[in-house]
Amino acid sequence: MDKNPASRRKFLKQGSALALAGLAAQLLPSNVFASMQEYENMEDLNTFELPKLAYSYEALEPHIDKMTMEIHYSKHHAGYVKNLNAAVKENNISGTLEDIIKNAGKHPVAIRNNGGGHWNHSFFWKLMAPAKGAAPSGKMNEVINASFGGFENFQKIFNEAGTKRFGSGWAWLILNKDKKLEVGSTANQDNPLMDISEFSGTPIMAVDVWEHAYYLKYQNLRGDYLKAWWNVLNWDQISSNLEMAEKG
Ligand SMILES: [Fe+2]
Repeated sequence: MDKNPASRRKFLKQGSALALAGLAAQLLPSNVFASMQEYENMEDLNTFELPKLAYSYEALEPHIDKMTMEIHYSKHHAGYVKNLNAAVKENNISGTLEDIIKNAGKHPVAIRNNGGGHWNHSFFWKLMAPAKGAAPSGKMNEVINASFGGFENFQKIFNEAGTKRFGSGWAWLILNKDKKLEVGSTANQDNPLMDISEFSGTPIMAVDVWEHAYYLKYQNLRGDYLKAWWNVLNWDQISSNLEMAEKG
């Protein structure tokens, strides 16, 4: 061994560096990927996925028919996810889906449309469930009564927001910045969390009023679809959404 302290330190330093490099090669994906660039480009790092449905396509019959559910989920929603992944990659955008849609105004329109489409549909599927009650109970019922003067009046206001939305869009129940419930609608795939939304707040419930959500069964009768939709609402999920929004 070199007895010179300076060269000994140099030897130890080099040895440590080599050891660290060896360790890094084992720990970092550089031993899996040809280069760090390849690692950074790995699709999985920022790939959004179609969430699994908690029920079968036919589970919401007769109110929402099997074919509508199948096409809506496996074609329309899947299309938003695919296009969002392509847009995120093309524009080198990172972050959670919520971060991305909250900043929709700073991104290309493909992010607004497809990020909104993915968020909105993921939210929408969870609001529905087979064989659920058609009316809220407990605290949700009390809050609806206090905010809208009764459940029937709330349904009327909500359905009107859906039927009056011109073209494609969504009707929403949100908790606004004053922590009050409010009903409104957005166009296309806009979402009340978006910085550019004409209607802002934390979503509690929503209904898709794009024709693809109802046309196969209800044709042009959006009002009939909206009336039927109340039969498949999952009030446990909606109550939980309100609880989370009140805490947030
Ligand atoms: Fe849809």
